[in-house]
Amino acid sequence: MLFNMCGIAGYVGPKNAVDVVFDQLKRLEYRGYDSAGIAFRDNGNIAVVKRAGKLSELGKALHDMPSDTHLAIAHSRWATHGAPTDLNAHPHYDAYEQVAMIHNGIIENYLDLRDELVAKGHLFQSQTDTEVAAHVIGEEYAPGVPLEEAVRRAVKRLRGAFALVVISKREDGKIVAVRNASPIVIGLGKGENLLASDIPALLPYTRDVVVLEEGHLAVLTPEGVRVLDEDGRDLPLRTERIDWDVAMAERGGYEHFMLKEIHEQPAVIRQSLAGRIDENGQVRLERVFSEHVWTEIDRVNLIACGTAYHAALMGKFLFERLLRLPTDVYYSSEFRYGDPVLSPRSLAIFVSQSGETADTLAALRLCKARRIRTLGIVNVVGSSIARECDRTIFTQAGPEISVASTKAYTAQVMVLTLLALYIAQVNEAAGIRVDDWIGELMQLPEKAKRVLKTEPQIVEVCRKIQDAPLCFFLGRGADAYTALEGALKFKEICYVPTQESPAGEMKHGPLALVVPGVVAIFGATDPATADKVVSNMKEVQARGGTVVAITTDEDTVVHKAADHVLQVPHSKHEFLTALLSVIPLQLIAYHVARIRGCEIDQPRNLAKSVTVE
Ligand code: G6P
Repeated sequence: MLFNMCGIAGYVGPKNAVDVVFDQLKRLEYRGYDSAGIAFRDNGNIAVVKRAGKLSELGKALHDMPSDTHLAIAHSRWATHGAPTDLNAHPHYDAYEQVAMIHNGIIENYLDLRDELVAKGHLFQSQTDTEVAAHVIGEEYAPGVPLEEAVRRAVKRLRGAFALVVISKREDGKIVAVRNASPIVIGLGKGENLLASDIPALLPYTRDVVVLEEGHLAVLTPEGVRVLDEDGRDLPLRTERIDWDVAMAERGGYEHFMLKEIHEQPAVIRQSLAGRIDENGQVRLERVFSEHVWTEIDRVNLIACGTAYHAALMGKFLFERLLRLPTDVYYSSEFRYGDPVLSPRSLAIFVSQSGETADTLAALRLCKARRIRTLGIVNVVGSSIARECDRTIFTQAGPEISVASTKAYTAQVMVLTLLALYIAQVNEAAGIRVDDWIGELMQLPEKAKRVLKTEPQIVEVCRKIQDAPLCFFLGRGADAYTALEGALKFKEICYVPTQESPAGEMKHGPLALVVPGVVAIFGATDPATADKVVSNMKEVQARGGTVVAITTDEDTVVHKAADHVLQVPHSKHEFLTALLSVIPLQLIAYHVARIRGCEIDQPRNLAKSVTVE
């Protein structure tokens, strides 16, 4: 599974390398990016050209560049650390401008490494983790040491999930790449070789590829490709032939971006934790308010739209249940025109994937005018909301292309969970076992993978419910909130009316809509309310409705009552089980839409980012 934040390209061979890597970047444009740059051999040195903004800006800057360069690497950045500026764009040099490096992913221990290097006199131009890694490689690149050996030694000092690609002034005609959880694919040519983060960037040049494996290092020269293991030993090349067309390759082999993004969630969960849990099992959040601020906050207002609003509801659940911190959740559009009552000691949190939603931005400006502390939980670094909030925590979900949001939701809930744990930690809240929660959080990527493996059962259920004229989404507690998200996905892409409410509210009105043929999907992951949920299921069945239940693999009650059962792995904290249950809900929407022949990635009447009020 490829999961990339940034676009990576590299070429060594007889063609004009700058042209080739620029073309490769253009083929990755569909993924979105905020800045781009190229490094190439120029008169025995390594030249670096980089620009914030569109690729055309980089194109203009490259206009007068030499055409006889045969070694280049290029990068389109999707920022996770540091704003999208010229300086923060890749490639980055080491301290001696001997090597230039591009990078995808996150170096978790970059702050510690940076302190270590600063103490030795290193100066840094950017705020990125990438530049720190480039300096570490430079340190290891002593005279006589080959570049691949320097990279291999440097990687041992880096922690995180990343891919690095490096070229050197000392060794012409050589690209070194290493994979540590972030993908690198090598394209094999005749008298030339290439690499990229994503297959579309290779397809015009070759269909013979080597997918670099975990921990392995590659050395590309025009004559050939070597793959080395962690100890520097040569390995046999495992070549594959790719027969995808370009559109298929852009979607990583999936039929739709939505499905690709649903499947990225284990990696996204992992990435949202990356660098945020230290060796002592404590939550570490950078650039949030100083510790004393958290003791002063008396109320939280979470403000968002759409899927981000549903993630905010999950935040409320945790802030109140875990922290006993009064929390309100507002739709951005209602908040800004609602003359909200705001305590001067409150904190306003703005949740947004794009960071550009007009109503959320307007609500943020209102809070700032009222001098309320503001915190953003945002996916796009450098976006308006990220820039204007007092502090921002990034969700690190990577670019989301499908209009129906999936992985961004999971990442938002993960960040809200980490934030709640962080507040518990700094306030030394009694009775909250932060270490216990962290242990459970660390298991989530694996559990999310297990949920994805149940996709064939989900497809079976979808075949049974595909013709429902109306679909209910119900639950109690945190399941009532994921039900709202499940219903939103369903209506967005299946175009089937939905009715969503807490299960206990059914008998106060919605039950009147149940007739034979209607389907009710229940989130039933909390054993504490399982009996009550079963009663609600019976109410639906008694009126001819069909019941689908999403419950846990330790359930003893719910599966006996439901017509169709889907399971997610149990977690000690029911909140996390509820979070995982969003994956089957997303997949139900996806597969019913697919069976019904609906447009999936771009549903009618909807937009990815709503920048009008
Ligand atoms: C649009 C998108 C949704 C998204 C909402 C809020 O409606 O289609 O997927 O949840 O905007 O967007 P934001 O970028 O602020 O999270």
